[in-house]
Amino acid sequence: MNISETPEQIRQFLAPLRSKNIAFVATMGCLHAGHINLIRKAKSLADVVVVSIYVNPMQFGENEDFSKYPNTFEKDTEICKNEGVDVIFHPSNLYPSDGAKVTLKVRDISNLLCGISRPSHFDGVVTVVNMLFNIIRPDIAIFGEKDWQQLAIIRRMVSDLHMPIEIIGSDIIRESDGLAMSSRNRYLSPSERQKSLCLSQTMLLVKNNIEQGEKALRSIQFGIDNLRKYDIHPEYLEIRDELTLKPENNITSQSRMFIAAKIGNTRLIDNASLKSATENTL
Ligand code: PAJ
Repeated sequence: MNISETPEQIRQFLAPLRSKNIAFVATMGCLHAGHINLIRKAKSLADVVVVSIYVNPMQFGENEDFSKYPNTFEKDTEICKNEGVDVIFHPSNLYPSDGAKVTLKVRDISNLLCGISRPSHFDGVVTVVNMLFNIIRPDIAIFGEKDWQQLAIIRRMVSDLHMPIEIIGSDIIRESDGLAMSSRNRYLSPSERQKSLCLSQTMLLVKNNIEQGEKALRSIQFGIDNLRKYDIHPEYLEIRDELTLKPENNITSQSRMFIAAKIGNTRLIDNASLKSATENTL
C-alpha cells in the first residue's frame, strides 16, 4: 500500500492506473467500522481504492475541536492495509501558505440543520472535497449517510459543477446498542456514552409513533419531551424531505428525521428514514 503525502506524489501513483475504475473514500482519520464499511463498498465497486486522511481546518469553527481532533494514523494505516486499500493520501496541508483565497459554497441547503450552528462548516467541507476530487480524479466517491446533509450538499456540488464523479451513499453503521459510530464518540465519558443512547432511542420512538398513525409534528414534540426527561435539549429534531432538506409536515416516502444534540461538550448527529411509516398506508 502506497502512502502519498503530496498532490504530486498521489498523481504520480495514480497516473498508470487511470484506465482502471478508481473509488475514493474521504476521511479525517480515526477510522472505525463506519469508515471501514465505506472502504469495503469502494473495494466492491472499483479496481483501485484511494482513502484520504486529512483533518480539514476550514470546516471547523473557532470553538470546535480542530486542535484536539483524534489522530490514530498508525492504526488507520494498519486498517487500510488489511482492507486492501491501494493508496492513502495523507497531506499535511492543502491550503496556500498565505491563506485560502477560494471557497466553494452550496447555497440554501448549507444554511439549515447543522448549518445553523456551524455557519461555514459545509463551505469548508465542499472546498476540501473539491480539492480532493481535483487531485484524485476518482470515478466514484463513497460518503456515509450518517452525515446525510453533507452527502446531499456534495451531491449538489457534483451535479451543479458537472463533475464526472458518481457519488454513492452508504448506510449508517451503529454500535450494537444503536449509537451511530463517530470518531467523536471517544470524547464521551462513560455516563455521557450511556446518555447518548437517547438519540437513537428517541428517533425510534418518534418513528414508531408515526407508524402508529400519529401526526409528524406531535411525534416530534413527543421526541423532544422524551429527550428533556434526560436533560437533553436537542439543537434540532426535525423531519425533512431527504433530497431538498426542506421541512415536511406530512410524511412521504422521502421523509427523513434528523437530530443533533450536545451530550456534555460533544455534539452528536444522527438521522433515520421514515419510509417504513408510509409503506403500511400506501
Ligand atoms: P469523517 O467524519 O472522517 O467521515 C468520513 C466519511 O465516513 C464520511 O463520508 C462520513 O459520512 C462517513 N461515516 C462516518 N461515520 C459513519 C457511520 N457511523 N456510518 C456510515 N458512515 C460514516 O465526513 C468527514 O470526515 C469530512 O467532512 C470529509 C468528508 C472527509 C471532508 O473533510
